[in-house]
Amino acid sequence: MIALRTNRNACSKLQGMRRIDLIEPFRVMQLLERAKEMETAGRKIIHMEIGEPDFPTPAAVIEAARQQLATGDNFYTPSTGNPDLQQALSVWYKQEYGVDVTPGRILITPGTSGAFSLIYAVLLEAGESVLLSDPGYPCQRNFIRLTGGDPINIPVGPETRYHLSAALLAKHWQNNTRAALIINPSNPTGTLIEDNAMAAVAATCRDHGSYLISDEIYHGLTYGAKARCALEFDDNAIVVNGFSKRWAMTGWRIGWIIVPENLIEACRRVMQNIFIAAPTLSQYAAITALGAADAVEAMRRAYDERRRYLLAELPAMGFDIVVEPQGAFYIYANISRITPDARQFCWQLLEDAGVALTPGEDFGVFRADEHIRFSYATGLDDIREGIRRIKKFLL
Ligand SMILES: Cc1ncc(COP(=O)(O)O)c(C=O)c1O
Repeated sequence: MIALRTNRNACSKLQGMRRIDLIEPFRVMQLLERAKEMETAGRKIIHMEIGEPDFPTPAAVIEAARQQLATGDNFYTPSTGNPDLQQALSVWYKQEYGVDVTPGRILITPGTSGAFSLIYAVLLEAGESVLLSDPGYPCQRNFIRLTGGDPINIPVGPETRYHLSAALLAKHWQNNTRAALIINPSNPTGTLIEDNAMAAVAATCRDHGSYLISDEIYHGLTYGAKARCALEFDDNAIVVNGFSKRWAMTGWRIGWIIVPENLIEACRRVMQNIFIAAPTLSQYAAITALGAADAVEAMRRAYDERRRYLLAELPAMGFDIVVEPQGAFYIYANISRITPDARQFCWQLLEDAGVALTPGEDFGVFRADEHIRFSYATGLDDIREGIRRIKKFLL
């Protein structure tokens, strides 16, 4: 009865609106377009807004793709993925996290974006909700809305290292909640969820007969403690990961999702229909990527050097970093000491100093005006130049 009422509320909220009207644009794209215009006009812009590795894909991966292309086998794989890649990932999970995952539970998707559109399609009926953090990676809300689901944005702050907690879940849980999502390390804050918090969040989801979904796309890019896989805490968790960030393979469009046995069949049916299969060439190259640990480590060290440089510079300039980021390639800074309007600050900084940053509004509404995100997926020389320009701008 209560469940029905909640559904009706969700529906009435949306009455008169078409689903597509709920899909928000990525606001930073407007800023990026302006930056490109300025570059075309001859200005050198420092890009610290983009969340994409500035490194090339490891050479061994490119070579593997070249060889695969030459074999002539560039046809569809099974919908759930190339069995060799599923097997390689199963072995990798044992080595990396000590968890046993049968290859059949590992479904290969076109990027993690493909994995998210798949899992929300499988889990959600119209009006059912998913709990997620604000601030958080903005596409998530839109994936959920596209399936007719209802994203419940939960304000999070430094107290929980910008992550969901069991207490927050208890406060916001609804009768029609199907899942809670964590992004660990977080985009935009780069923070890791604490082990006990992860365990408690997983237990809450399990107790409600729903799912913890863990976005682990920034795993491997951590600078101190290693990120833990949700499967280390709960075998029923749904884990999403991919090759875009750790292996610098954004354009290869390849990722994976690990689901409990009971969801495999439904996922397979959806995959057959909406993707047919992930890109074949990328699936072969990805097997080689799993062995490219040295190349990944070189990138990780470079990111860490940039991170440490920014952490040393930013606070004295008025950017407060309340929780030190331990992962991804982002720093989420509070700029209240400088301005009450992060959006206006970012636009002015771009026009006057030629430095592009992402305003907090891209990641939600909670205290968004007070925050900006620095991305350090940009070379150290450019980052130093960016800092020099920002200092001059703030004078
Ligand atoms: C937290 C998070 N999840 C997922 C994605 C999507 O990545 P892809 O579809 O390239 O795997 C991104 C991209 O920026 C991200 O930051």
